[in-house]
Amino acid sequence: MDRGYRMLPLTEHTPRIRLDPLTLDDAAAMAALLADDRAAVMNTASFPWPCTAESMRDWVAARLEIVRMFAARRVADGAFVGSVSFRDAAAIGVPTDGKGAVIGYWTGMPFRRQGLTEEATRLLLATIRAEGPAVGWTEAIADIFIENAASRRLVERLGFGFNTEFTSDLPQRGGLRTSVRYRLPLV
Ligand SMILES: CC(C)(COP(=O)(O)OP(=O)(O)OC[C@H]1O[C@@H](n2cnc3c(N)ncnc32)[C@H](O)[C@@H]1OP(=O)(O)O)[C@@H](O)C(=O)NCCC(=O)NCCS
Repeated sequence: MDRGYRMLPLTEHTPRIRLDPLTLDDAAAMAALLADDRAAVMNTASFPWPCTAESMRDWVAARLEIVRMFAARRVADGAFVGSVSFRDAAAIGVPTDGKGAVIGYWTGMPFRRQGLTEEATRLLLATIRAEGPAVGWTEAIADIFIENAASRRLVERLGFGFNTEFTSDLPQRGGLRTSVRYRLPLV
């Protein structure tokens, strides 16, 4: 399927984390990390709940059609740590000056608070930047539920600036939820 973008070889990695394009084969590892972590799922906009190998496989299959997703793996042993993603802001009605990439990220509980998400997200931003000349990404955008202190701290560390606050009706996440939007210029 032509998704309107060009896949580039992914070479970015740090000593601790590498990114690979996410595949259906990663769904079981995702479900294993999220099955007992409802709080994490509720902090994201669209992960399925309950989170089973089957529901996650269906979710990944549908998501791969519309979002660029990468598995974050620990270099030392290949352990699946979490995933990072991005998609065209215009495709989901997020206003942007130029061409915006809306990013997403999560990390399994056992791997948190070690700076691994920060590394994975830096690699994601490097990947988006590397496509800049070909695709023209001008900024990265992160939408975060307002009470998600860890995620807000993460994007602030990455240099994103607060942009705006907005409310969305998300029945699958308890109804009206307030989010904050952060932006990072890429050019
Ligand atoms: C948000 C999330 C990705 C952070 O992952 P992490 O691996 O713990 O993040 P890092 O170790 O890279 O830390 C990033 C910063 O956030 C801070 N942080 C992490 N957990 C925190 C918490 N519970 N409260 C406040 N700050 C926190 C870290 O201390 C660090 O800042 P510092 O170095 O200045 O102290 C992780 O908690 C998660 O996956 N949560 C569930 C899903 C989710 O919320 N995804 C994001 C949706 S927008």
